Amino acid sequence: MKKVVYPGTFDPITNGHMDLVERACRLFDHVIVAVAASTRKNPLFTLDERVELSQRVLKHLPNVEVIGFDILLADLVRQVDAYGVLRGLRAVSDFEYEFQLANMNRQLAPNMESLFLTPAEHLSYISSSLVREIASLGGDVTNFVPAQVRQALQEKFNR
Ligand code: COA
Repeated sequence: MKKVVYPGTFDPITNGHMDLVERACRLFDHVIVAVAASTRKNPLFTLDERVELSQRVLKHLPNVEVIGFDILLADLVRQVDAYGVLRGLRAVSDFEYEFQLANMNRQLAPNMESLFLTPAEHLSYISSSLVREIASLGGDVTNFVPAQVRQALQEKFNR
C-alpha cells in the first residue's frame, strides 16, 4: 500500500492545503495529514483544535487520516511505515526552505523520499499567516478557507 505523510502546522488548514490533499488522494492509497505541534511558531489554534478542524474539513475523503505529532518528522514517517513525505510548492520562494528540509530529512532517514506537488494556481498566494491576519482584522476569508475554518476563526477573534 502506498502511504504518504503530508506534514504541516495547519494553523489553520486553508483551501490550498485542501487542494493538495485532494490531489494526493488520487495518487496514494492512504494520505496521513500530520499536524505538527510547531510550538516555536506559537500557533493561534491548539494542536487539538488544528487536528479536529482538519478532520472535519477532510472527512469526505475516505483515504485520509489526520493525526497530531510532536516528534521528529523522520521518526513519524518510520513509525507509520510511510513511503515518504509530501510537501506543497506554491512559488519559487518556497523552494529554498523545502530543499533544505528535504535534504535534512534525507540525512536523518535516508530511505524516506520527499515529494512535491503544486496547488492550483489560483490558490498559490494563500498562506495560513495571511488568513489569520485578515481574520484578526475583521476581513473576509471566505475564498481562502473552508466554511468551518472561517467559523472557527470568527470564534477565536470573537467577531
Ligand atoms: N496552500 C496554502 N498554504 C500553504 C500550502 C498550500 N498548499 N503549503 C504550505 N502553505 C503555507 C502554510 O499556510 C504556512 O504559512 P504561514 O507560515 O504563513 O503560516 C507555510 O506555507 C508553511 O507552513 P506548513 O506547510 O504548515 O509547514 P511548516 O513550515 O509550518 O511545517 C514541518 C514544517 C511541520 C514539516 C516541519 O517543521 C517539521 O517537520 N516539524 C517536525 C519536527 C522536525 O522533524 N523537525 C526537523 C525537520 S528537518
